Amino acid sequence: MPFRTLDQAGDLKGKRVLVRVDLNVPMSEGAVSDDTRLRAIVPTVEALREKGARVVLLAHFDRPKGQVVPSMSLKPVVEPLAQVLNAPVAFAPDCVGEAAEQAVANLHDGGVLLLENLRFHAGEERNESGFADQLARLGDVYANDAFSAAHRAHASTEALAHRLPAYAGLSMQRELEALETALGSPERPVLGIVGGSKVSTKLDLLKNLVTRLDRLAIGGGMANTFLYAQDFEVGASYCEKDLKGTALEIMQLATDSGCELLLPMDVVVSERLEPNAPHFTRARDGVDGDERILDAGPQTVHRLCAAMDSSATLIWNGPLGVFEVPPFDRATVAAAKHAAERAKAGRLVAVAGGGDTVAALNHAGVAGDFTFVSTAGGAFLEWMEGRTLPGVKALEV
Ligand code: 3PG
Repeated sequence: MPFRTLDQAGDLKGKRVLVRVDLNVPMSEGAVSDDTRLRAIVPTVEALREKGARVVLLAHFDRPKGQVVPSMSLKPVVEPLAQVLNAPVAFAPDCVGEAAEQAVANLHDGGVLLLENLRFHAGEERNESGFADQLARLGDVYANDAFSAAHRAHASTEALAHRLPAYAGLSMQRELEALETALGSPERPVLGIVGGSKVSTKLDLLKNLVTRLDRLAIGGGMANTFLYAQDFEVGASYCEKDLKGTALEIMQLATDSGCELLLPMDVVVSERLEPNAPHFTRARDGVDGDERILDAGPQTVHRLCAAMDSSATLIWNGPLGVFEVPPFDRATVAAAKHAAERAKAGRLVAVAGGGDTVAALNHAGVAGDFTFVSTAGGAFLEWMEGRTLPGVKALEV
């Protein structure tokens, strides 16, 4: 393992363990609307409690930009967190200083404390050493269980890791191991699926993937830009026409790297993006001027499923169509179900990540059948781009 893990931390009884977690959860009308990230930290917190550690949770919520913004307090997360942990969770109204120090001093062995939003202090996002020193005073040991925030070089993810004995939490460890299996040293052939609307936000990702994968399927709105680059009519579809040259460059890079690019062979079009709007399947050279491409067609899905059947590993980011608006969810749902079946049968290592992707797999009802689904958004993308994540690097041995 290139990073330190909690089982190497020795006797933690009575030790104050600062655990960086990601509690940046979706809220609706003051209540947590999706508790995936809360559940993600349970294994680490339970393991620490069993060892008699005093658990101090460090987290951010939203982007208050160094100011105290009451609507961005972590307080509403305390109760839902206590529920998933099945244990009381204390709360301190500040993450450093007297209030925090007092609350930590009140902790007993096996107790859990959540500190207020780290980002209420500007020193957090600036990775300030003074702020990291203040945090370090609160603990004896540090663990990072927030892969989804590991792309940020902030005081609680970076500087703090250099001030205390630092370890990866169990979720972080599981995530890094799964990602390594999918892209670091995968079983080949490896197939990638990249979807979503914009090529412009995934340029580095596409460039990295074509040099590392055996096959890459491009879907969603970004496929339109590739079709346009090959002089196909895309009608009124979303398309980044100014990126024609870039799309051609990526295609050339794929050819040079021996990566087979799978672009849509057929598409589903409509004149309106509305639920159950009249829609038609067209060959990719049959799109009319006033039509919009909103999903991949059945032939494309068929070929993609065949590509899964002859691949050992799948890494997936981004939907194939506008899955939020039926029936333009069909290609994404069909492909997701096929990948899930192969994974369940032990024939495919299927790893997926990114906000939209998780929502799409949940919509298809198959997220639980994938080998691994990352809850990270930006961090998953940066990792797929081949970048070093500061929060992970700080844990390396
Ligand atoms: C996330 O929600 O992806 C992480 O918590 C990081 O949040 P940020 O993009 O505000 O840094």
